[in-house]
Amino acid sequence: MQRHETLDLEDFEALLHRAATMIADRVERIGPCAEGPVVHPATFDELAALIPSDWPEAGAGAHAVLDDVARCIEPYATRIGHPRFLAWITTSPAPAGTLGDIVCTGLNQAPLSFKGGPAATVLEHVVLGWLARLFGLPQAADEGMDGPGGTIVSGGTMANLMGLTVARHTHFPEAATKGLAGIGRTPVLYVSDQGHMSIERSAVLLGLGADNVRAIPSGTDNRMDVAALRAAIAADRAAGLAPFCVVAQAGSVTTGAVDPLPEIADICAAEGLWFHVDAAYGGAAMLTDEGRALLAGIHRADSICVDPHKWFFIPLECGVTLFRSKAQQIATFRARASYLGEENPHDLKNTTFILSRANRALKVWFAFRTYGRERLRRIVTRNMELARHFRDLCAASPEWRVLAPVQLSIACARYVPQGDGWTEEQVDRLQVRLLERLEASGEGFLTPAMVRGRAGVRLCVANHRTSEADIRLLFDLMTTLGRELAAQGPLASPASRTAQPTQPSQTPQV
Ligand SMILES: Cc1ncc(COP(=O)(O)O)c(C=O)c1O
Repeated sequence: MQRHETLDLEDFEALLHRAATMIADRVERIGPCAEGPVVHPATFDELAALIPSDWPEAGAGAHAVLDDVARCIEPYATRIGHPRFLAWITTSPAPAGTLGDIVCTGLNQAPLSFKGGPAATVLEHVVLGWLARLFGLPQAADEGMDGPGGTIVSGGTMANLMGLTVARHTHFPEAATKGLAGIGRTPVLYVSDQGHMSIERSAVLLGLGADNVRAIPSGTDNRMDVAALRAAIAADRAAGLAPFCVVAQAGSVTTGAVDPLPEIADICAAEGLWFHVDAAYGGAAMLTDEGRALLAGIHRADSICVDPHKWFFIPLECGVTLFRSKAQQIATFRARASYLGEENPHDLKNTTFILSRANRALKVWFAFRTYGRERLRRIVTRNMELARHFRDLCAASPEWRVLAPVQLSIACARYVPQGDGWTEEQVDRLQVRLLERLEASGEGFLTPAMVRGRAGVRLCVANHRTSEADIRLLFDLMTTLGRELAAQGPLASPASRTAQPTQPSQTPQV
C-alpha cells in the first residue's frame, strides 16, 4: 500500500537525543563552574548574517538544522541561569522545570477543553490549588466561599491583565454588553508610583484609560503611602468618579518593595474596591517564614498575580492569576460556542481569555514535585541573604551608597566616585557605564535602576546557582570598574558624553 506523505521524522529518537545532549551540555556549562561571557557581545546584524534565513524549497533535514543550532544559535544564547546573571527579574530555570517543559511540548495537549487534555486539566487544577493554599486564599469549604479560581498564562503582564479583567467585569458587568460607555461613570484604579508598567498597560487595554490610573506616592521605603491612597479615593469620589480597584505591589520591580497589604486590604473592604496584588516576583517569598510575615494580608486579595517563571525557578513562560472567587472568574470568561464541543465543568476555556494553550502546569508540577517545598524554601531564603550581603558590602564602603532597603532579594546601590567635581547627573551616567563595562568583562550581567530620582546598579537575586563568592566577585569587580571610570574624571569620562542615550529607565521592566 502506498504511504501518503507526512512530516514524521524517521530518526526522531536520535534527533531527540542530539537535542537533549545539547541542552544538557549547556546546563553543565552554565552551572557553578561557568565559563564564557554571560551575554555574548554579537550584534543583531552579525547574527542576522550568520543565521540561515532563506526559506528553502526543499528541506535541509533536521540533522542539518540541528548543526545550524549548534553553530549559530546556542553559542549566542544569553546565559540566563549563569550564577552572575542577576538582571531584570529573570530567573535561573530549574532543570526539572526544563524537563517538564520538554515533556509538555512532546505531549502537545490542548487543554482548552477537558477532552483536549484530561491529565493536563487536572495538573492545572493541582498547581493552582497548591498556589492558592500557599497564599492562604479561602477554600470552597470555608463559610460563604465558592473556592478559589485561577489560570496559568504566559507571564506577569498577562496575569495582571487577567486579574484586572475580572475586577472590571465584577464591578461593571454592564461593560460586557454595552461597552464602557454603558458604565456611565469613570472607573478609577490605584497603584503606587512603584507599580509595574503592566498595570497601566492593562488599564489601557481594558479601555479604562491611562489617565484613570492614579500613581499613589510611595515613601522612602518605596511602599505605598496609604494616607495618600485614602485621600485620592476620597477626591475621586467627590469628583463623581468611580474608584473600583487598588493594586498593591508585593515585590515591586525596581526595589522589591512590599506595600502595606493589611492597610490596603482594610481600605478596599471599607470602600468596596477590588484588591489585586501584583506578587509576580515576590510571591515566592511566601515559601519562607520571613516572606510570609512581609506579605501578611495577601490572603485577603480578590486576585493575585504570581509568576512561577520568576522566583519559583520555572523556565519561561509561566505566569499565574489566582482569584478569590472562581465564580467571578468564570462569569468573566465563560466561553460558549457550538464548535467547542460538549461542556465539561472542568473546561479551562472558561477560566481565561484564550482558547488554545500549552499545558504549562506540567513543568511547575514536575519541578515542585522534584525538589519539594523545603529545597525551594532554602534557595529563596539564600537569595534574600545574598541581596542583603551585597547591601552590607556597599554600606560598609565609602565608595557605595545603598539606594533602597532590601525587602526581598533585590539590592540597589550607587557607585560614588571619591573626590570633588562630580555632579549627581554625572554620577548617574557613571552607573550605566559601569554596568556596560561589567557586561563587556563577561563576568556578570545586571540592569540599572532609578531609585527616587538617582541611578544605581541593581541586583535581583532570583538565581538558584548564585553563591556568596559570586556576590563578592561582583562587588569587587564593580568597585574596580567604578574606580577606573572615576579616575578618568567626570569630563574625560565616557560618562560625560551626554548625547548618548545612556540614562537608565525609571524601572527595569521585566
Ligand atoms: C512586579 C511585576 N509585575 C509584573 C511583571 C511582568 O511580568 P512578565 O515579565 O512575566 O510579563 C514584572 C516583571 O518583572 C514584575 O516585576
